[in-house]
Amino acid sequence: MSDPKEQKVNERMEKIVSRCKRRGFIFQSSEIYGGINGFWDYGPLGAELKRNVKDYWWRSMTQLRNDVVGLDASIIMHPKVWEASGHTATFSDPMVDCLLTKKRFRADQIEPQSGTAYWYSGATDGNGKACKEPYAVLIPAGKHPEYARKVARKYYQQRGLENPTLLEERTEEMANSVRFNPDNGSLLTEPRPFNLMFKTYVGPVESPDNAAYLRPETAQAIFAQFKTVLEVSRQKLPFGICQIGKAFRNEINPRNFTFRSREFEQMELEFFIKPDATAQAKDGPPPAEVPVDAPQPNWGWKEWHRYWVEQRVKWYESIGLTREALDFYWQKPEELAHYAKATVDILFKFPFGAQELEGIAARGDFDLTQHQKFSGKPMDYFDEEAKARYVPHVIEPSAGVDRLVLALICQAYQEETVTDDKGQAETRVVMKFHPRVAPIKVGVFPLLKNRPELVKKALEVRDHLRRYLTVFYDEAGAIGRRYRRQDEAGTPFGVTIDFDTLGEKPELLDTVTLRDRDTMQQIRVKISDLAPLLLQKLS
Ligand code: GAP
Repeated sequence: MSDPKEQKVNERMEKIVSRCKRRGFIFQSSEIYGGINGFWDYGPLGAELKRNVKDYWWRSMTQLRNDVVGLDASIIMHPKVWEASGHTATFSDPMVDCLLTKKRFRADQIEPQSGTAYWYSGATDGNGKACKEPYAVLIPAGKHPEYARKVARKYYQQRGLENPTLLEERTEEMANSVRFNPDNGSLLTEPRPFNLMFKTYVGPVESPDNAAYLRPETAQAIFAQFKTVLEVSRQKLPFGICQIGKAFRNEINPRNFTFRSREFEQMELEFFIKPDATAQAKDGPPPAEVPVDAPQPNWGWKEWHRYWVEQRVKWYESIGLTREALDFYWQKPEELAHYAKATVDILFKFPFGAQELEGIAARGDFDLTQHQKFSGKPMDYFDEEAKARYVPHVIEPSAGVDRLVLALICQAYQEETVTDDKGQAETRVVMKFHPRVAPIKVGVFPLLKNRPELVKKALEVRDHLRRYLTVFYDEAGAIGRRYRRQDEAGTPFGVTIDFDTLGEKPELLDTVTLRDRDTMQQIRVKISDLAPLLLQKLS
């Protein structure tokens, strides 16, 4: 029996996953064929939510800044890109296989097990056949040793022995061992590196010369195109190039819904800065306590790194992920990727634990120097002001779209007890998305669908609002049920066209009720004021 806290977490996650499916946020890819592990599709609401996240990131990062420009590069690039970046040689996870079932695990994710290991040096059968491969099974305290023997015989049967006799049984007490499959106790293989890049072939011939990779990150295209973008955009350092796009990683164990997927989207910024020595040649380094959001010409990588962490946290706050919902992890020197001088992970407190949403790395001049070396093309920059030539350094805020969408869904999901029209208590499921990212901004409802004059007016209001916002028109069922459906979709506002709109009370002619999803309060608003009021509430 799992502990009650863990059970609660699982229950919440299960509810979220099932709600996501039922309401059209996220489903398994190729579901009619049983799905495919690590791949997900976004339904009508999920697609809108994801688009809003990406559009807002793009707007904040490029259109609202003078010092960042965009790029939209191809997914498949020259394979040398991945040699230069280090991905061909080092982008791998340690992998182990169960010797019995062949199930594959990430070695660093195996739950430590304790108990008695039953070792065999091999087995023979009555027909003179033998297998000399050693094998072991770990059983927890209290479990009958016959279990280990049964599993071991199965293993040797798979090795071609029809009726195996186990050889040289010996036992060993194990504490917190990660050498055995937690599901069945079978011995695992030794860890081997497994490259996470998806390989494919360009053109009709499947030869090593034509091998290429689906990009495992969007960042490298930015480095490879650094010079071109610099020239065409006429930017000066410090400046950044950002990109949103698909990335692919053949993860050994995709898990936690969309959190670790094999196909996902990234939103990455490479912000190019001067080396510290150049930036600080004239005025020296900035004082220890620098204001974090007022860039100065003598800022070095540490100040820019702090600046981008702060900018990114503010951005998350602006879509409703509060600082309390986030956490920070400064990677230890031994955990840093080969290219990084420092990395801060911004974590979100998911129901299954605080996990990384975004990594902000100080990458030094590693990438541009590598591409310069591998391509033979200069990646340096002539700094007119400093009269110096150098390879720029980089700060990289790198966020995952799918993880952010999952975080927004987890944060938004609420169950509330409310009283219905008849005074009965009922549970209201409401997705409290920040209006900026909510898939639909406003629901429009005629009070009654069998009154053509109400429907006509409601359709007019819908068509008017549609020019500015995502609108959902709904005339089916009681008005309370329609509100609930929009609460579940996370729609922050609801507009109802009633008889007062048509002038039953003359002073209310051409006004509607505007309902707030979170407070469920309603106010009366003139139709002509609706669009500006809603736009103001959304911004
Ligand atoms: N260019 C640096 C880079 O790619 P990363 O930490 O490997 O760094 C950045 O990835 C972000 O991409 C992560 O913080 C996460 O949000 C997202 N990400 C990485 N692997 C993912 C996966 N398998 N599934 C979903 N999102 C992933």
